[in-house]
Amino acid sequence: MVTAFRSRLKVEGEAVTLLEGNTPLIDCPRLAAWACPGGTLLVKYEGLNPTGSFKDRGMTAAITQAAHDGSRTVICASTGNTAASAAAYAARAGLRCVVLIPEGKVAMGKLAGSIAYGAQVVQIDGSFDDGLRLVREISDKAPITLVNSVNPARVEGQKTAAFEVNDALGQAPDWLCLPVGNAGNISAYWLGFVQDALERGFGTPQLLGGQAAGSAPIVLGHVVEEPETLATAIRIGNPARWFQAKEALADSDGQLWRVSDTEIMEAYGQLSRLEGVFCEPSSAAGVAALRKSVLNGEVEPEGKTFVAVLTGHGLKDPDAAIAGQTDSIAVLAPTYDAIMGVIE
Ligand code: F0G
Repeated sequence: MVTAFRSRLKVEGEAVTLLEGNTPLIDCPRLAAWACPGGTLLVKYEGLNPTGSFKDRGMTAAITQAAHDGSRTVICASTGNTAASAAAYAARAGLRCVVLIPEGKVAMGKLAGSIAYGAQVVQIDGSFDDGLRLVREISDKAPITLVNSVNPARVEGQKTAAFEVNDALGQAPDWLCLPVGNAGNISAYWLGFVQDALERGFGTPQLLGGQAAGSAPIVLGHVVEEPETLATAIRIGNPARWFQAKEALADSDGQLWRVSDTEIMEAYGQLSRLEGVFCEPSSAAGVAALRKSVLNGEVEPEGKTFVAVLTGHGLKDPDAAIAGQTDSIAVLAPTYDAIMGVIE
């Protein structure tokens, strides 16, 4: 847990930490020219957390509280990042960790993490939403602590990202752009910004969320029974914090966009090619939503400051990066002439 913020979070116990947080806020002028011309765009690079995603901010808090409460076992459903994070912090605390993941829909780097950190990995023939229903039932009936973002300590920890953004800018940005899946992160950011407004006098940003077109229950206003998207992290049809997300969007005078997989992958490519910032596909949904809102004339970027949260590292999902690209990498003779032949 970011030590400087500890006194502002409702979490008890000696911190179980991997020194998460303090991620960079990177100015991205070339990306701004593409997504929000005339505006300033900075990205909060959450992939630089210890297990490669923003989940570590909430997980340090949830595992700290679970250990303090005497829990021996924690459980979560996950599209991959929560699982890897829970596995790491549980290992750190000496707790047992069980993770439920949708079979075949979890990116390789995330699965690798859960296995490496020693979690018991259970694949289900179902979606994230099925998994969440099951782990809720299990934690209700058995002495096992649920560490999905319905756990209040998770949200407490995740608020620290809002504090850091305000600290870095000296004020709140005009807009905060981010992907929306189970809706824990958008809810946590909003609570953080509201708390900072009260305690330190910062303003609050307008929130701009992106849901994948095939998994956009909040935009559509109904549960999506069979969510689909390349952005597997946000392949969620019935978000747990749906209501809080709606409230945060309304209170911040925000916007929530449905972005296609093509739009997400375009933003994903632009982030790494224009700025050298590699995130996983889902993370680019906030930038995709920003570009869409500007193109549609719903956001006027001139003179505004936008912060886009890049929730997970690109190396989480190497398959997405190399898909269709490896065939075009030529194998050449190891000679000067052969190499210069393709460079010139
Ligand atoms: N981006 C990434 C990389 C994620 O892993 C998630 C959620 C989100 C965005 C959406 O955040 O759910 O708070 O709205 N991943 C969860 C998981 C569901 O299991 O790792 P949210």
